[in-house]
This record gives sequence, structure tokens and C-alpha cells, in this order.
Amino acid sequence: MIRKVKGTRDILPPESRLWNEVERTAHRILGGFGYSEIRLPLLEPTELFVRTVGEGTDIVSKEMYTFPDRKGRSLTLRPEGTASVARAFIENGLGQRPQPLRLSYFGPMFRYEKMQRGRYRQFSQIGIEILGAAAPAADVEVITALHTFLSALGFDDLVIVLNNLGDPEDRDRFIEGLLSELGPHRDELCGDCQRRWTENPLRILDCKVPRCRELVAETTPVAEVVGDEARAHVDEVERALAELEIPVKRAPRLVRGLDYYLRTVFEVISPELGEDTVICGGGRYDRLISDLGGKPVPGVGFAIGEDRLVEVLPESTRARVLDQRIVTVLPIGDGATGPAARLARELVLGGAEVHTEVTGRSLKACLKWSGKMDATAAVILGEQELADGVAVVRDLRHGRQETVALGGVATAVIDLLEKSD
Ligand code: HAM
Repeated sequence: MIRKVKGTRDILPPESRLWNEVERTAHRILGGFGYSEIRLPLLEPTELFVRTVGEGTDIVSKEMYTFPDRKGRSLTLRPEGTASVARAFIENGLGQRPQPLRLSYFGPMFRYEKMQRGRYRQFSQIGIEILGAAAPAADVEVITALHTFLSALGFDDLVIVLNNLGDPEDRDRFIEGLLSELGPHRDELCGDCQRRWTENPLRILDCKVPRCRELVAETTPVAEVVGDEARAHVDEVERALAELEIPVKRAPRLVRGLDYYLRTVFEVISPELGEDTVICGGGRYDRLISDLGGKPVPGVGFAIGEDRLVEVLPESTRARVLDQRIVTVLPIGDGATGPAARLARELVLGGAEVHTEVTGRSLKACLKWSGKMDATAAVILGEQELADGVAVVRDLRHGRQETVALGGVATAVIDLLEKSD
């Protein structure tokens, strides 16, 4: 037997309905905030992520699916979406469109990570990016859109944590301070952090090794050393969110695992999954597009991990989505196939989920099958019924049935489904 690749998943029905609902809600709410979908390739030149996410990050240094194509060019299965959005912005001249540009994206990302609950090698993100807006109002909009989307899905216990990473100039000063504070303990840091020390010291702050965490906890947080402009920017974001009654918590030590961020960074944490399994991450990246060779275009956005979001979907939302109202259409005998297909079409257009019997089973077997499918109603089209121009509509939840003229069957069934809500 051939098995799926480690870290990938089959999302089976009815679980897939939850995904459909999350995506429908995202299109409705994020679309409502003006974000339109950009469909990006899954394959990108490796260089794109090396230059944006950063060479010293875990993602680039150990998690990418990178391979040469048949002509020897290095390709990577995208580990995230923001770099592709920036590339597409430059390549398609999207700076020519009215600014700011609001984009959303949906789909799989790939990271070669250690498998655990909520951590997969192929996972899906739902993201938005607003490009061409430097003011704090853009950060506020993005976080408001996020909060509105999560509320629409019934979440009320998620925590948004926020930090200020400062500008790249502040970052250099911060790193200098960090290294001098950690200096006396340098040899106590883990092997990875020894490498980070020279390659990308900021990443020492993401290290999960307990001793490294302890040492980092003693250092001055990044938010304390940021310059005046960056400070005013993020303070304004926080003030405006408070005015909107969107609860955010300052997390002075929050850094994100990608190099392109500056000023505002944020994450969403679920009490159920804990701090290490973040539901959503985002922030501002005003130098990303210019670092890729474009004009200086500021940007801010986020990406939600859809796998994780679905895993912690509130019970009431789950129940609402998974509550199916199925009707089975049961033609008994040869002549009934055509009328059954016609009725099925009418029911589908009326909004029902129809499962038509197509295997030639007996009436008894059909009713047993309807029960297993947990159908709400069954419509029986037997020879005698068809001769009389009627069908039997059976209410499977209450074990009642009535004979209805063929022309009125669809209405009777839809009524019955609605009443069973
Ligand atoms: P990120 O924090 O690397 O940010 O990923 C965003 C979200 O993707 C995470 O919060 C998590 O929910 C989900 N995720 C990441 N890795 C995995 C995994 N192995 N398994 C399951 N879910 C995972 C970004 O990707 C940025 N591009 C976000 C952004 C957009 N910043 C600005 N704009």
C-alpha cells in the first residue's frame, strides 16, 4: 500500500465542510474589507525566500522543500505567501494600480518541520496584505479585519499579542545590546544559537531550548530600545485598537521567525493550543519590496494557519456546519429513474443536499441506507406512486410519512428540512 507523505494530510468529509465554511467566511469578511484574492504559484525560485524570509531563519536554513528542476534551477515549494505577494507586486507592476492595494491569498505552504499536533509539513494559510500604506491606520485595519473574521467564526477567547520591533536601524542597536548582555553566557547557548550568534542574532530570541529561553528572559526586550518614530507608530496602533475595543496584549519579547518585519508584529494565540502553537502571525514589512528590487512600498498583513484554526473552531460553529440536512431520493423500479433525477434537480435548486439512490437496491435496503446517511427525509418513487402521479415523503426523524402530488414534492421536502432545524 502506498501511504501519504509524512506531514501531509487527507482532509476527509465531513471535516472538509469546516474548511469550506472557514474559507467562505474569509471570502465574505476579508472580501468585505476590500481584500481580493491573488492566486500565486506554489513553486518559486529559492532565491526569493532566501532574500526575504532570511538566510539565518529556521524556515530558510532547515525547513524548505528545495530541489533542482530538470534544468538545474533551484526551486522551492513556498513556505509562506508574503514573499510571493511582494514578487508578484513588482513583476506585474501592481504599483500602477490605485494604492493601497489590498490582496488576500489561500492555499498550501510547505515546511519541513517536526510533526506534532497542529504542525504539518503541508499546511494551509489564509492571508491578507495591504501594500502602499505606511500609516498606523493600515495596521489597525488589518488587525480589525482579523478580529472580525475570527468573531464571525464564533471565536471569543483568542488572544492577540502585539509588539514593536522598531526600525532596522533600531534593530542594529538592539542586537548590539543583546549580544553584550548575553556575552558572559555565550558558551551556555545551544549549538543552533552559537551559529545564530554570528549569522542572525535576532533569531536567538525564537530559540525553544529551555536554557536559551532562560538567558533571553534576562535581557532587555526589543520594544524598550526602539526609536521615537517606531514607538509612536505602534503606540497609535494600540490606542486605535483599544478605541475599537479589540483586545490586544503587549508582548515586549515577541519576535517573529521571519526577517522582513519592522515596527508592528502580532500573533494570535488560542488558550487551547497554547503559546507555542500560534494560530495567526503578521506584521509590517516596509522594506520588503525595495529589498527585492522594487520601489519602496510599505506593507502590512497576516497569515492564519487554517489547519490550526479548524482544529480549535468553537463547538457551536462546528455543530452548525456539520449538521447536515440530507434528503434521499429513492426510485424503486425501472421507470422511476427519470422522475427521480428530475426531482433531485428541483430539490438541489431549492437548496437541499440530495443523495439519489443509484445502485438498484430494494426499498428496504434503501431505507436502511437513508438511516445510515442520517438523512432527514426520504422521497419514495415507486411504480404505483408514479402511476398515481404522487410520491411518498417520509420524515425520517419522526417516522411519519405522507403522500404528495409530484408537483408539490420539492416544496413539501424543503418545508420539512427547514422545520427540522
Ligand atoms: P508565520 O508565522 O510563519 O507567518 O505563519 C503564519 C501561520 O501559519 C502560523 O501562525 C501558523 O498558524 C501557520 N503555520 C506555520 N507553520 C505551520 C505548520 N508547520 N503547520 C501548521 N500551521 C503552520 C507567515 O507565514 C507570514 N507570511 C505572515 C504574514 C503575512 N506576515 C505579514 N503578512
